[in-house]
Amino acid sequence: MPLARSLSVTSLSGLEEWDEEFDREDAVLFEIAWEVANKVGGIYTVIQTKARLTCEEWGENYFLVGPYMESSVRTQVELIEPCNATLRRTIDKMNSSGCKVYFGRWLIEGSPYVILLDVGFTAWSLDRWKIELWENFSIGVPWFDREANDAVLFGFLTAWLLGEVCTQCDEPPHIVAHFHEWLAGLGLVLCRQRQLPVATIFTTHATLLGRYLCAGSVDFYNKLAEFNVDKEAGDRQIYHRYCLERAAARCAHVFTTVSQITAIEAEHLLKRKPDIVTPNGLNVKKFSAMHEFQNLHAQSKARIQEFVRGHFYGHLDFNLDKTVFLFIAGRYEFSNKGADIFLEALARLNYLLRVNHSEVTIIAFFIMPARTNNFNVETLKGQAVRKQLWDTAQTVKERFGKKLYESLLVGQLPDVSKMLDKEDFTMMKRAIFATQRQCLPPICTHNMLEDSSDPILNCIRRIGLFNSAQDRVKVIFHPEFLSSTSPLLPVDYEEFVRGCHLGVFPSYYEPWGYTPAECTVMGIPSVSTNLSGFGCFMEEHIADPSAYGIYILDRRYRGVDESCNQLTSFLFQFCQQSRRQRIIQRNRTERLKYTVNFQIIRDCQPQNATGFRYPRPASVPPSPAHSLHSSPHHSEAEDEEEPYDEDLEVEKDRVNIRQPFNLPNRNKNQTVGLPEKN
Ligand code: UDP
Ligand code: G6P
Ligand code: GLC
Repeated sequence: MPLARSLSVTSLSGLEEWDEEFDREDAVLFEIAWEVANKVGGIYTVIQTKARLTCEEWGENYFLVGPYMESSVRTQVELIEPCNATLRRTIDKMNSSGCKVYFGRWLIEGSPYVILLDVGFTAWSLDRWKIELWENFSIGVPWFDREANDAVLFGFLTAWLLGEVCTQCDEPPHIVAHFHEWLAGLGLVLCRQRQLPVATIFTTHATLLGRYLCAGSVDFYNKLAEFNVDKEAGDRQIYHRYCLERAAARCAHVFTTVSQITAIEAEHLLKRKPDIVTPNGLNVKKFSAMHEFQNLHAQSKARIQEFVRGHFYGHLDFNLDKTVFLFIAGRYEFSNKGADIFLEALARLNYLLRVNHSEVTIIAFFIMPARTNNFNVETLKGQAVRKQLWDTAQTVKERFGKKLYESLLVGQLPDVSKMLDKEDFTMMKRAIFATQRQCLPPICTHNMLEDSSDPILNCIRRIGLFNSAQDRVKVIFHPEFLSSTSPLLPVDYEEFVRGCHLGVFPSYYEPWGYTPAECTVMGIPSVSTNLSGFGCFMEEHIADPSAYGIYILDRRYRGVDESCNQLTSFLFQFCQQSRRQRIIQRNRTERLKYTVNFQIIRDCQPQNATGFRYPRPASVPPSPAHSLHSSPHHSEAEDEEEPYDEDLEVEKDRVNIRQPFNLPNRNKNQTVGLPEKN
């Protein structure tokens, strides 16, 4: 199956055939997704990060279409008048027919145009559209499925928009409409049914059934070919959603997905083999100074340490300088994202560190949004106590400084025993008393709405990782995406990632997985798996991923317990690295950022080159026995304080990355004969 980043649409059934190199000036691209200017997960990242490049290529002829979400629009979108007469007429027409359609610029890199559809405002049409859906496609959407109702409204509105654009043009241009994921899929189906002169692309970033089946205890990859898809969807009460998804995949002129593993899944579950695989990429920021990302790590780590000081007040009996920060982040799908085996591995790691009398402390963050009722009091109090201690220290410092100054003014060295008076001591004692605590530092930063049934909390209860003094592994569950405006941990996600030491993403179901890719771009090592699109991509394109801080956990050929042991051993080895080794490893990880760059992914694909292969680091002996080590092997040169000929090395690697090579066949048919999940 070919891989490509950009799509060249050549032959479209039901449409006039376009020239192979059609003129972009005469073509308009609409990209439609529920996550346009609306952050839910990775699809938002896909669209946001490729916007600049797409705008460069398509200029004024590129429009993103998404739902109107007031809170996001207020912070991310500048509403403006439609940029051309056709769109103005289209939007005016829709708005005068009972819709609310907005036009603006999304304030991200590239500033793409966005057309936002207020689905709530058109809810009055829901019943009518559902009847149409039933009559024309025999898909019945139940009233209680809010998400599916939104998909119906969004689908009809996008088809209306595209139809109206065609009507409003005297001479319609070539229109390409690229739909992402099932939530946007109905628009595509309607375009085909209404025979609009629009070339359609459907990209799926997962399959609904895949997500649901994996979240249960099904031996998914071994049984892919055997599932009775209709029955499985029906059993899980998602038959209507599944029908919408499958219809979009089947109706699209071009069907794509984000990784080979999801392509195989789609072929079995959606009954169509994707025409092309379009791996996700990221925009890579070029720093002027080579080691700027290392400084950023140190700065961000200091901010996380500050939060930790507050969170663990009264129990700060560990050395923050010897504390390693691990994290997992993303959509809250407990077992799909591998939070289950991460927790189990943490429990085992805790045991190993304790019996080995390790001085290292691990703090593992879980950043996964769940239903909450705001921050909890104990967590907020932690930061308040820390702030109070800081203020006290500042006040005493000022008073001390004043006395010192006065003494120097009269030409005397200060009498140190008189520099702090009774009042200072009282103030300090009171501050220390405030740090007394009757309970252990909290696991969860928020009040959970479903505390007693929450899978992370229940697992922690079972394995007993309660942040006690004896535990070498501490856990913090932050059930909300991070934000720099948070009163608790005021850092955005990027800053947080930079400040951590290792991202742990041991997913069982992960079509791509942006989180480890983002770590790589920031020079932070990560764990992913050979069941995730990103993990497979890296395994395929890098000779020795672990030498670069890309640990790929085997979840294909091992049972859960074995994978868990492997993860424990990765983590244990990681904890034993010295600071110097971590710095070297971060340098190496950061070098890989070019492998996940959009432009490189695109340039290395598809027709001419079969791919690229990133070599083993120069300082690693090429023997296979050594290549499996997880801690970096570094040469004498790398041990020097200053980067040796790192510039040269990076350049060498960049040259190599562009050289095509023939992929070995070992990855073919890998899903055949996979072991049982348990
Ligand atoms: N993310 C975020 N804020 C957070 C945690 C995660 O914006 O506090 C983003 C992260 O940058 C990533 C996305 O959430 O781009 C998760 O995407 P991924 O493809 O890893 O998984 P998904 O959640 O879509 O399944
Ligand atoms: C970066 C900084 C160093 C700092 C180091 C800490 O490399 O440039 O000044 O000492 O990070 O690394 P660590 O892995 O211990 O957080
Ligand atoms: C979905 C998948 C995730 C992927 C993202 C972007 O949310 O779960 O693995 O990275 O889409 O393609």
